[in-house]
Amino acid sequence: MNTTTQTIRALKGKRPLVSLTAYDFTTARLASQAGVDLILVGDSLGTTVLGYETTVPVTLEMMLHHTAAVTRARPEGLVVTDIPFPEAHRDPGELLDACSRCLQEAGAQAVKIEGGVGVAERISRLIAAGIPVLGHVGLLPQRIHELGGYRKFGKTAEERETLLADALAVEQAGAFAIVAEMVDADCARDLRDALKVPLIGIGAGPHCDGQVLVSHDLLGLTAGKTPSFVKRYADIGQAIGDAFKQYADDVRNRKFP
Ligand code: KIV
Repeated sequence: MNTTTQTIRALKGKRPLVSLTAYDFTTARLASQAGVDLILVGDSLGTTVLGYETTVPVTLEMMLHHTAAVTRARPEGLVVTDIPFPEAHRDPGELLDACSRCLQEAGAQAVKIEGGVGVAERISRLIAAGIPVLGHVGLLPQRIHELGGYRKFGKTAEERETLLADALAVEQAGAFAIVAEMVDADCARDLRDALKVPLIGIGAGPHCDGQVLVSHDLLGLTAGKTPSFVKRYADIGQAIGDAFKQYADDVRNRKFP
C-alpha cells in the first residue's frame, strides 16, 4: 500500500524519515525503488530543472505538470506538491482551488506550504477540506528577495522563539509534518522535542526526525555551488557530460553508428 500521511506521522520516534525531491517520472521511480518515504515535488524545480535563479518564477501550472509526471511513476512514497509563490497568500478560496488541483489533476497526496504563524489559519482551512499539509519553517526560499540571501535561522534567542511559535502554529493547524530549512542544529533539536509531528530537516543538522535533500544536489547535477550541508552521493553530472562527449566524438569520427 502507498504511504499515507498517517504513516509519516507514525514514524516519529521510530526511525528517521527519508525524503527527496523529484520532478519527473524517472527520478520518482528510482526514489520509490530506493524506499524513499516522502517524495517532494519542490518548487526548487525552478532552480534545478528550469534554470531560474530563484523559486519565485515557478507557477502552479509548472508544479502541476511536474507533479503529474512524478505520480505517473506510482511511487510508494507519499507525493507532496510545493505550493509556489504567491498562491499561499491569495484569497483562501483561490488557495483551496490551487491545492485541490494538485490532488485532483496531478495526483499528489498532500501539499507543502511555506510559512508559520502567518499561514496557520489557511493551513487549517485546507485540512478541514481534506487536503493534507506539510509545513515549512526556517529559511523560506519564496521570500528570498526579502531575506537577501541564504543563511542559518535560529541562532539567536529571538529567532528561536519565532521559529518555535511558527512550528507550533503550523502543527496546531493540523500539518502532518514540518520541514525545517537552514535551521541551527540545537534549535532544530528543540523544535523536534516540542513537536508531536515529525520535523524533517534540510541543512538543519542531525537531530531532526528525518531529512530531505534536493536530489540534484546529492546526485551532482546542480549547476554551480551546492549548499555546504549537502553530501554528494554521486557525480551524475560528470558521467552524463562524459557520455555526451564520447557520443559526439564517435559521431564526428564516424565510429557511431
Ligand atoms: O523546494 C524544495 O525543494 C524544498 C526543499 C528545500 C525542502 O522546499
